[in-house]
Amino acid sequence: MFTRSRIVAVAAAGAVLLATLAAPAGARSAGSDDGRGVYSVPTADAAQRSAVAGTGVDVLGSRDGRLTFVATDEQARTLRARGFRLNEIGDFDEMLAERSGRAATSAAVADFPPGDEAYHTYAEMTAKLRAAERGHPALASVSSVGRSYEGRELHLIKISDNVTRDEAEPEVLFTCNQHAREHLTTEMCLHLVERFTTGYGSDPAIRALVDSREIYVIPQVNPDGSEYDIAGGTYKGWRKNRQGRGTDPNRNWDYRWGCCGGSSGNPASDTYRGTAPFSAPETRAVAGFVDSRVVGGRQQITAHIDFHSYSELVLWPYGYTYADTAPGMTQAQARRFADIGRQMARANGYQPQQSSDLYITDGSVNDWMWGEHGILSYTYEMYPRSSSGLNGFYPPASVIPRETARNDEAVDILLRAAG
Ligand code: ARG
Ligand code: ZN
Repeated sequence: MFTRSRIVAVAAAGAVLLATLAAPAGARSAGSDDGRGVYSVPTADAAQRSAVAGTGVDVLGSRDGRLTFVATDEQARTLRARGFRLNEIGDFDEMLAERSGRAATSAAVADFPPGDEAYHTYAEMTAKLRAAERGHPALASVSSVGRSYEGRELHLIKISDNVTRDEAEPEVLFTCNQHAREHLTTEMCLHLVERFTTGYGSDPAIRALVDSREIYVIPQVNPDGSEYDIAGGTYKGWRKNRQGRGTDPNRNWDYRWGCCGGSSGNPASDTYRGTAPFSAPETRAVAGFVDSRVVGGRQQITAHIDFHSYSELVLWPYGYTYADTAPGMTQAQARRFADIGRQMARANGYQPQQSSDLYITDGSVNDWMWGEHGILSYTYEMYPRSSSGLNGFYPPASVIPRETARNDEAVDILLRAAG
């Protein structure tokens, strides 16, 4: 068993593991801070939430005015000095170690930690898309919008009747996993694929939607980050892509990029906006696909949902300003966003609001989709509603069926509204 080559392989795996573990520690020691804590803080209004988020801390969730976030010791000191009453929930690394369990130790582990194997890795997601295509060649077609920073294909699956033809039907886009650790969202996109392909033959409502729409699904916008987050069988709480110290994809879109204090210019920050709009290959590739759907001067995609976790919210643009109306957003358009947003929220039990009512972000995907292309673009923040911290990103695999099917009706509302 322990042949020479086997020992070499184990040693190599160990080296990879050490390198993997060293990455977050390196990022920490690069700043003047020495540790990270998970905190919650009560806030009175969106301005206070934006003030907290604007320091570049890593906001995990926000519900009923209480923000949960990860901060360096220095960021926590700054916030306390500004009068915020922080409640420390725990140490970042300890909370992650607890969730991952102690069993996983080998970098060779190519799956989620024990108990969470039902979540799909990049390879498993890829296989699932190919299987959907093979099983339903008239309905499903897999392609790619480009490659990630580390060279992974950014898979795109189209689902429609006569899928190989570009018919005159409204197009609807679903994107998942911009943020690495939000693994439940990948499952959400795979659930959509499953439902619209296998459900086609048996469910007349699904058939009507698939026949009258062209549905596009990108299950992992940030596969590098997602794979990194599970490497070695331990969760890392990683949010960004893997370009340098990481860019937050959802601050990198080319609409009022970096305009308004809703992102960070510090590469160490979890909301780092990148060196330029679309400096992240992943956002550039998805945007390129959306741009390519302008046919005969008309954008074919009329509606979009970008799935995140967590907090159970339905959000709509703009995120860069508190104002309900702004250039490119009339009173009537703002009302339509709110109307459909509230309908969807009634269906899934989430809370509906304009995204800036949560806190200001700039360079986020919804603002670009709407501002650049007039696409009715929403963010869903999925299960759970609230959490003591990092655990909110890693719900047990047993909730996947319930928490993805929970959005069936809401998704159908948007598909119908897309007409
Ligand atoms: N939580 C997601 C993020 O931080 C979505 C933000 C939605 N936009 C907003 N203005 N709050 O990227
Ligand atoms: Zn997110």
